[in-house]
Amino acid sequence: MELFDTHAHLDFTRFDQDRDEVLKRAREAGVINILTVGADINSSRRAVELAEGTPGLAAAVGLHPHDASDFTPDTARELKKLAGREVVKALGETGLDFYYDNSPREQQEQAFRSQLRLAARLELPVIIHSREAEEETLKILQEEGAGLAGVVHCYSSSSGMAKRLVEFGFHLGFTGLITFRKLGWLREIVSQTPPEKILLETDCPYMAPEPKRGKRNEPAYVKYVAETAANCLNLPVEKVAELTTANGQQLFALEDYSRLED
Ligand code: NI
Repeated sequence: MELFDTHAHLDFTRFDQDRDEVLKRAREAGVINILTVGADINSSRRAVELAEGTPGLAAAVGLHPHDASDFTPDTARELKKLAGREVVKALGETGLDFYYDNSPREQQEQAFRSQLRLAARLELPVIIHSREAEEETLKILQEEGAGLAGVVHCYSSSSGMAKRLVEFGFHLGFTGLITFRKLGWLREIVSQTPPEKILLETDCPYMAPEPKRGKRNEPAYVKYVAETAANCLNLPVEKVAELTTANGQQLFALEDYSRLED
């Protein structure tokens, strides 16, 4: 089985003690690629460094909506500079989070628009975080995102939004949330999504799936997400791994990229 964890935060300090072990367990679980995603400028820099030092690892650079109030013209310049590195395959994560509202909404929208424009200029796919902001996310995507490819990660919005995103050409990234017993409605969305639009991810260190719920998450656990997705799609897990890995490699232009190795 060959899996692709399309959304991990391997630069976070929670992996400082045992990052090599985490990567080893990922390989043993069949993970061949990981996209490690920057959350702010420092995190994006670390993501790039990690990817440059680890075969099979690629990076995304961006500013999370939580920190959108830090977005300045310098941020855009720095992201643009980082995006020129070979290992950077996406812009993000960016988007809107009206659940936590850690940054004022107006600033979240501005930072989101700027990063979408940057992605279009750099011809990179985008990784979008959207929480409690369905209409605003779609509106801004429609205004700024013509021709952009990308994914709404850790998908947990409505089935209506899922349909509209797929119509727009976007992928949906599913995490360990789909394994939670009470979230049958989310599994329903997985089963209704065209398999070619599905990506698997961990969003580690967050979102640990059953049976690891409550623990620190890591890329190896993407296999549990794959198993649940396979049940939803009524396909063998090997087939789902193959399909979703191909989807991710195509979206992030990793077809000829290195793989995690011993
Ligand atoms: Ni994330």
